[in-house]
Amino acid sequence: MPGSGLILGIESSCDETAAAIVERGARTISSVVASQISTHARYGGVVPELASREHLRAIVPVVRAALAEAHLTLADLDAIAVTSGPGLAGALLVGITYAKALAFANRLPLIAVNHLEGHIHAVLLNEREAEDASAAHVANGKLGAPGLDFETWDSTRLRSDPALALVVSGGHTHLYLARPIDATWSYTLVGRTVDDAAGEAFDKVAKLLGLGYPGGPWIDALARFGNPRAVPFSFAQIKPKIHLAGKAPRTKAAKTAPIARLDPHFLFSFSGIKTAVLRYVELNQMRAEARARVSRVLEHFRPPQTREEALALCPQPTLDLIASFQRAVIGDLMKKTFAAAESLGARRVLVTGGVAANRELRERFTEEAAARGLRILFPTLALSTDNAAMIAAAAWPRLLKQEFAPPDLSADPSLALS
Ligand code: KG4
Ligand code: ZN
Repeated sequence: MPGSGLILGIESSCDETAAAIVERGARTISSVVASQISTHARYGGVVPELASREHLRAIVPVVRAALAEAHLTLADLDAIAVTSGPGLAGALLVGITYAKALAFANRLPLIAVNHLEGHIHAVLLNEREAEDASAAHVANGKLGAPGLDFETWDSTRLRSDPALALVVSGGHTHLYLARPIDATWSYTLVGRTVDDAAGEAFDKVAKLLGLGYPGGPWIDALARFGNPRAVPFSFAQIKPKIHLAGKAPRTKAAKTAPIARLDPHFLFSFSGIKTAVLRYVELNQMRAEARARVSRVLEHFRPPQTREEALALCPQPTLDLIASFQRAVIGDLMKKTFAAAESLGARRVLVTGGVAANRELRERFTEEAAARGLRILFPTLALSTDNAAMIAAAAWPRLLKQEFAPPDLSADPSLALS
């Protein structure tokens, strides 16, 4: 391997402009994320045109900040990695065009990374970082002197142990069987949503209830103060539409992979529960109250932290609805993920993506994994949502194998992983 394995990662697939420098896929030297939440919040969702404009504004300062934070210059790097898909076409193109220009001007190889693989590597980066920190002979944090052999780490440590990865975010709810092979990874898609992603359901239900954007953190914060058994959302309401198997996917979230040959037991569907919440809100006359909340939420801009704050924003029945919704979604994610792990003989379960930041999700997956004698791994909270450290980490095995992007690399909004 030439150089010291320093990769600059660039991520711009959705509403975060991010740059990070990671050494040998195992040590984060710097990580900078510029969020566009305040731009999109008033619209209750990401506006693609605004996202591209914000990426254009942020990309140069964000990359500069990542280099400055690392006390490095472009001349110190070994490669540049960039997210090439899936994501918003215009948003992806900003990162790709800038990464290409930087790579060309500095004679650095360019590595294209699938955003979903990035989310999986967020967990692996944590794992390698933990190993790195505990290796006695790596002290001093000296660049270029890793204590562990990260060229073979993944395959030697995990070869006999395929992992089941649940990537659960605003754009995806996908299950993969991930195997380390020859210092790189192979992925087999085993399940996915047939309509909305789980994060999308959090965002849509939050919007319906007049809460902030993105909805996940608001629902997460408020659910703690509600009774999760108050509204009996059943798994039947989020049952996969088996009759759709073999048909072309209908939504943005479903475009990244075909469902024809997947086991229907590992398919998700979250549009039913969203409609069930809508019906419940209408039946119980909660609409006006939700509308009245919008302006208060925009003013405060931060999810409640205490029961008093929660009750000042939402009456108890709304808190109960929120808690019941969250419990049902997490229950369904758990049921299918653990069934897939068992059926495929995976001893480790990786849960990653924005929704993996959810408190209840972490607690319940951790308990269930312990009961089944499985290892459960999550990224740190900062690495759960979109970031560029995961992109730089995922590029490391590709740098080892000299798998570089073609000169005509372009954005692929529905890029599949497998
Ligand atoms: O991975 P991410 O940053 O972007 C995508 O690739 O989509 O995930 C963003 C999604 C949003 O839908 C957001 O509502 C959700 O992750 N999210 C959460 C939490 N934090 C973020 N969902 C549930 N609980 C959370 N704490
Ligand atoms: Zn993501």
